[in-house]
Amino acid sequence: MTEWFRDECPTAFFTKNRMGHWEFAAKDEKWNQGFNEAMAADARFVSSILVREYKHVFEGLKTMVDVAGGTGEVAKALAGAFSWLKCIVLDLPHVVAGMEGSENVRFVSGDMFEFIPPADAVFLKWIIHDWGDEDCIKILRKCKEAIVDSKSNGKKVIIVDIVVNEEKQAHEETETQLLIDVLMMAHYPGKERTEKESAKLFAAAAFKNYKITPTLGAWTIIEVFP
Ligand SMILES: C[S@@+](CC[C@H](N)C(=O)[O-])C[C@H]1O[C@@H](n2cnc3c(N)ncnc32)[C@H](O)[C@@H]1O
Repeated sequence: MTEWFRDECPTAFFTKNRMGHWEFAAKDEKWNQGFNEAMAADARFVSSILVREYKHVFEGLKTMVDVAGGTGEVAKALAGAFSWLKCIVLDLPHVVAGMEGSENVRFVSGDMFEFIPPADAVFLKWIIHDWGDEDCIKILRKCKEAIVDSKSNGKKVIIVDIVVNEEKQAHEETETQLLIDVLMMAHYPGKERTEKESAKLFAAAAFKNYKITPTLGAWTIIEVFP
């Protein structure tokens, strides 16, 4: 961190490795595997709660694309539990290469800044907090393009991420969120945001409305409507 404060690099991770996190993961197979397994463990935990307690969020959707969805744990759990739902998992080539899909889960390799496959809904878990405001707005605009032609009444972007709310939550929860904020700052050019900061991003990407459901301890579901 000390070295980073003295140079011009975007993150401490970059100072140490001379490249960003995703580029590093593409080059270092061991790091890539370890990171993807850690994400998959969290995804299994969160999706078990989504399936058990938040079925209504996914009702009315026929298709959903999990953008930057890692190895597809959320997609597999949701498509497995909700027979009406087909999922696409979009992630970078080094993450989804060789992944086997099924009747209800398809893997697509690509860059979310370039193209997101069309669907009724886009799912973003642990993505928005990885990026700075400008990049988040770019991602959200691509998400909007992906859902704009959907005929579903329920078309939306479903975000699972942190919303910092110091006044309304337990001190320990804020502590956890701010610790993750430091991690996001040091590893990616990301950060944790308050509701006001998140709402600004949604408006900048031309979304009309959003609904926050404080839910998974430090994590929150945000449904964002076009
Ligand atoms: C913090 S992980 C979250 C993974 C998954 N959503 C989860 O919660 O388990 C961020 C993901 O973003 C992916 N990613 C980074 N840049 C991307 C890009 N430009 N296009 C698609 N995926 C990207 C990474 O490969 C990684 O799988």
